[in-house]
Amino acid sequence: MILVISHDEDIHARRVVEHLQSMDQPVLLFDLAELPDRATLSIEYAAGARPRIDYARAGGEHYALDRVRSAWWRRPQAPNLSRVTDANAHLFTANEWNEALNGLWRLLGDARWMNDPGRDDAASRKAAQLRIAAELGLKVPRTLISSDPQRVRAFVEARGPGATVHKTFSCTHAVWRETRRFDDSDLPHLDTVRLAPVIFQEFVPADADIRVTAVDGQLFAAEIKLDPGSAAAAAGTVDFRPNLGDAEVREHALPEPVRERLRALMQKLGLVYGAIDLRRTPDGEYYFFEVNTAGEFLFIEHRTGQPIARAVADWLAGVSRSA
Ligand SMILES: Nc1ncnc2c1ncn2[C@@H]1O[C@H](COP(=O)(O)OP(=O)(O)OP(=O)(O)O)[C@@H](O)[C@H]1O
Ligand SMILES: [Mg+2]
Repeated sequence: MILVISHDEDIHARRVVEHLQSMDQPVLLFDLAELPDRATLSIEYAAGARPRIDYARAGGEHYALDRVRSAWWRRPQAPNLSRVTDANAHLFTANEWNEALNGLWRLLGDARWMNDPGRDDAASRKAAQLRIAAELGLKVPRTLISSDPQRVRAFVEARGPGATVHKTFSCTHAVWRETRRFDDSDLPHLDTVRLAPVIFQEFVPADADIRVTAVDGQLFAAEIKLDPGSAAAAAGTVDFRPNLGDAEVREHALPEPVRERLRALMQKLGLVYGAIDLRRTPDGEYYFFEVNTAGEFLFIEHRTGQPIARAVADWLAGVSRSA
């Protein structure tokens, strides 16, 4: 059986599940939020060293998770403990689920993982990604991650006006922040970095933003260009994502040395899947920004026709279509 660890609203998971179903592969879209009310989990050691692992839905469906051959760590949810209202009980039950589930992932250690949860967690740390990328010969922007307003001021002043961007480590559902250029109106707010560190980077000019979706050594590269006549381009927009509708997205021929470095990066990070953000400058240099270990790919697939969902499904099914 193939496990897709995500939830119903995840269109990427659904697309891959559809591919797997059309290949007659048994697959479970494993939504951890079905726990504890709509499903139960049991790990039973009886004879021998290998336990039986049962996932049983309230509706009566049973899944033997000890038969999982491959798993996609896509958008793991948390058990839904909203009815545990006492704060201490909530913390306790959440911890207990956490322990049981982390043990479950280790028990599925014989399965092939896209990506192994432990490696995924370690690989997704932005502060460390830059070092590994740089060690492998990828260009990375000058970067300051800091909660010290003085250091930030010095970094911004050293670059000069308009030459620094700021970005966050992550976003929550409620708070989404795109990468923005640091300008004079940000200066009075510099002290707020004391609350939580911010990532500052030299501004890298774009010929195009490049998204490389890596699926087990296969690299699907696409370039994303803002229409130079668009309002977003005129406003000097930094981050392409809010303006994706206005952007031109097409397949990109990545130079071989960059391809090799990205493959080495994926290997070093222990990742089977990754969505890598690069930027190509007008001089033709490629800068590395980040790897998203479960980054989206359908916005690329829809616009370039690159068969990424299919590649993910093939890998999970253990099918190789490459010549
Ligand atoms: N140093 C930079 N100079 C110019 N543009 C940048 C720079 N860093 C990021 N950008 C733009 O902002 C986009 C988003 O930045 P990045 O990929 O580093 O983080 P993020 O996507 O915000 O992170 P997450 O995926 O965790 O939300 C990039 O794809 C690029 O368009
Ligand atoms: Mg990004």
